[in-house]
Amino acid sequence: MYNFDCPPHPSCLIESMRNVGYSMETAVADIIDNSIAASAKQVNILHDCGPHGPSLAIIDDGCGMSGSELIEAMRAGGNSGPLAERGETDMGRFGLGLKTASFSQCRRLTVISRKAGCEIAAACWDLDELDDSWALKVYSSADEVESLSVSSELSGGPGTIVFWEKMDRVLDQATDPAHVRKFFLSSIDRVSTHLSLVFHRFLESTTAGQRFSICVNRIPLKPFDPYFSRHKATQKLQEEVVSVPSRGRNVLIQPYIIPHYSKLSGPDRDRLKEMGGPSGTQGFYVYRNRRLLAWGDWFRLRRAKTEASGLARVMIDIPNSLDDLWSLDIKKSSVSPPEFVRTELGRIIEKITGCSTRTYVSRGQKLSSKRYALWRRQASNQRVNYVLDRDHPLLDSFFASLSTEEQCQFKGILDLIEDGLPVEAIYNDKLGENLALPQTTLSEEVVRNHAALVMMMRKQGIDDAKIREIIMALNISDATGVQTKEN
Ligand SMILES: Nc1ncnc2c1ncn2[C@@H]1O[C@H](COP(=O)(O)OP(=O)(O)O)[C@@H](O)[C@H]1O
Ligand SMILES: [Mg+2]
Repeated sequence: MYNFDCPPHPSCLIESMRNVGYSMETAVADIIDNSIAASAKQVNILHDCGPHGPSLAIIDDGCGMSGSELIEAMRAGGNSGPLAERGETDMGRFGLGLKTASFSQCRRLTVISRKAGCEIAAACWDLDELDDSWALKVYSSADEVESLSVSSELSGGPGTIVFWEKMDRVLDQATDPAHVRKFFLSSIDRVSTHLSLVFHRFLESTTAGQRFSICVNRIPLKPFDPYFSRHKATQKLQEEVVSVPSRGRNVLIQPYIIPHYSKLSGPDRDRLKEMGGPSGTQGFYVYRNRRLLAWGDWFRLRRAKTEASGLARVMIDIPNSLDDLWSLDIKKSSVSPPEFVRTELGRIIEKITGCSTRTYVSRGQKLSSKRYALWRRQASNQRVNYVLDRDHPLLDSFFASLSTEEQCQFKGILDLIEDGLPVEAIYNDKLGENLALPQTTLSEEVVRNHAALVMMMRKQGIDDAKIREIIMALNISDATGVQTKEN
């Protein structure tokens, strides 16, 4: 037996590294993890889609790297692998992120970095120039580095630029520049949405020293807090701690019930919809060092995502020293809880989805328990129908004002309305959260119409207090306004 030196062919290895399944958003997030680990306070993402095609630069003001550290960082499979001891706040895991995330999106990766007390350094991998050797292009002088136009983005102090060119994933989508640009910009939108959720706890930090911001083409990203924790209707339930005695570490579990959709402000509703609506965003939110790894899933501990559990969100914090127990993958986008945590989560889920269901049900009851509901739910032989209440004072007074022939015609119209109620369409729109909410301001026309209804009921001898109650039950938000106009 003898030892044979059998290194991998660079181009083969890199081509397979390119396909581990990163999207542009997960790739950018992985690069930003490095910035956070390097204590950056600000990350700037600059994108451009000029005559040379799409390019993206991720610039941070972190501690930067010396020339030799940069070369080590560019090595595929450097010395910071999964077995390396990592600091409490280190976001890295496999020693691959910078390379794998970058190559998943581009064929040319240039990293420019400056560390305090060191000269600016730069190195570049160009996959089209590899010719089967691991020859990294290293810039040999500060002048040479400064000839790279993007290097001027490092504002004198320490920091790092990760620069992607030859972004073939984008170029593969279309041949004409206008379509390439359109596709690139929509990918950038997805990147922004993703980052505002994944790093929301960093972007929200207001305490001095913890300030952190991400700008996309100089525009700051707003955090998306999936718990709406500052909303007064959000319920923050009891925090639970699961200890891992063999490691002396804890997993923290903080359940929330978010406010019902209708209580959110317009912008909050829009953002929630963009993220997948209440149903799509329910579930566990797993964080590692405050960075969101995975969300919108019940880890198969619930049979299905339902509308009733749609308001439940469970924030789970795991320290990076427990990575191995959670089967964290290379892209840091999928995790699976260890068995002893699953058992606890199963118990917590029952408790909190009960709360979430109650929030939904109580809202449903409030709507249907109004004394003067116009629509009635009729259940018989396991079928449900929605019918208009013919004894409703409004319909009753209107009937009374009609001749016998007109009464017949009006009854026919009501039958048609009930029969033609588009139940499926309403159901689909409700699931997709497309339904408009009841209007909150009364237009002149609405006021006029309701004033006529008030007159009609008065003619039937119904008193004002009752009319007011009837009108309010019709879901008109400002019945007082109607009365004032009438008086
Ligand atoms: N923005 C950055 N600032 C400072 N150092 C960095 C930066 N990006 C990468 N590095 C260095 O390069 C190393 C390799 O990064 P990476 O390939 O992402 O692996 P990992 O993050 O798992 O260690 C990091 O451990 C770090 O030392
Ligand atoms: Mg990394």
